[in-house]
Amino acid sequence: MEPEVWGDESEIVAEVVGLIARRITRASDPKTTARPASELAGEAGRTITAAGLGATEALRIFEDVLVPATRAQDDPYNLAYVPAAPTKAARAFDAVVSSFNIFAGIWEAGAGAIFAENEALRWLIELLGWPDSAGGCFVSGGTIGNLSALVAARSYVRRQRGHDAARAILCTFDAHSSIIAAARVMDVEVIVAEEDERGHLTGPAARAALDEHPEVFAVVASAGTTNGGVVDDIADIADVCTQFDVWLHVDGAYGGAGLAAPSVRWRFDGIERAHSFIVDPHKWLFAPYDCCALIYRDVALAQAAHAQHASYLDAVNREVWNPADLAVHLSRRARGLPFWFSLAVHGTDRYIAAIEQTLSTARAIADGIRTVPTLDLLLEPELSVLIFERPGWTDEDYHRWSTRLAQEGLILCVPTVWQGRTTLRLALVNPATRAAHVIDILRETTAPDQP
Ligand SMILES: Cc1ncc(COP(=O)(O)O)c(C=O)c1O
Repeated sequence: MEPEVWGDESEIVAEVVGLIARRITRASDPKTTARPASELAGEAGRTITAAGLGATEALRIFEDVLVPATRAQDDPYNLAYVPAAPTKAARAFDAVVSSFNIFAGIWEAGAGAIFAENEALRWLIELLGWPDSAGGCFVSGGTIGNLSALVAARSYVRRQRGHDAARAILCTFDAHSSIIAAARVMDVEVIVAEEDERGHLTGPAARAALDEHPEVFAVVASAGTTNGGVVDDIADIADVCTQFDVWLHVDGAYGGAGLAAPSVRWRFDGIERAHSFIVDPHKWLFAPYDCCALIYRDVALAQAAHAQHASYLDAVNREVWNPADLAVHLSRRARGLPFWFSLAVHGTDRYIAAIEQTLSTARAIADGIRTVPTLDLLLEPELSVLIFERPGWTDEDYHRWSTRLAQEGLILCVPTVWQGRTTLRLALVNPATRAAHVIDILRETTAPDQP
């Protein structure tokens, strides 16, 4: 029985379900954009009231005022930062996951959901080539995934070699900002190794840094840097990590999807020897926010670091699979289920085809940029990020161009800084993006007579 206090909510549910169906089957509007809170307050009015607005009015405000002030992350021409491209199946199933309100922290509460999440993780573990000892869980994003992996790494190394052997993390300047954030939270140092001219961490650079810094307990290799989309020399770094007996964590938050793509799989060689890995299905594995797969080669090491213990948790059976024991969290939704459902429905072959299609589009855009006289391609895509410039433009020109194209809903492409200078950057994760369309826009809007 519904508690009397809420009244009969069945009509509210029907209205909300109607909105879900409408939203998922409709294309997003690329012109939607952020607005000042003062304007939103003016249009939405006061939304939290003693009597309540009722569902129809609350939904009207949401659809007419609030949603238009959010960016369409999944638009095929949103190529800024790292966009998203969830399948309709995954988005629909995300609503299902919420409707079941499963507690997926511990097996006794969420066994069925956790089983399915583990099926999806198993596909990734097979791609990694890791043994049966491997396992993990889904966390909110790459930031918490990286933090959790590095906490497990430190805990392991401290147990092996004592406190002083675990005071620093090694990575490059191009490692994601969440590594620096993790180090800050953990109160450890970051040693920045030299990178090569394209932005890779190499084996020799890792060796030189480790020689000098015995306090390093983990090396972070990027499997797809955010800025340049380059994959560090994982095999050589793995050799060095073995030699120095330090933990190798691979941050594949953006690029890890490439593991499934035969055309670029070789770039990940050596990953079979890493200790931990993350990939965000909400980036290039066609799942909605928020979803990061965090995987350890030896899941027991994660349990030793993360399991929470208290008298009120004594009843929890630790002999079974408890995702709560594997990261910095306790309560959790089964956020891996939309990814699992989409994989189960579409199959891994379609996933592989979708990733390969994105890679081909990135290569076609790179080829197209080479034919545009006003543009210079600065970085051949290793995965699906492109860096290029418009010689003659100032910082201001880049920003004005980016804002104008966003306002016109043509393409979302924001400037970045590459090797000290302002450039343009595209990141592709959406198989629906068409190279010819992107090239046409770039050609027309960067022509000398353009504002
Ligand atoms: C390589 C890399 N690592 C980590 C992250 C952080 O992921 P999240 O935003 O899901 O916390 C990102 C985000 O873009 C990333 O590209």
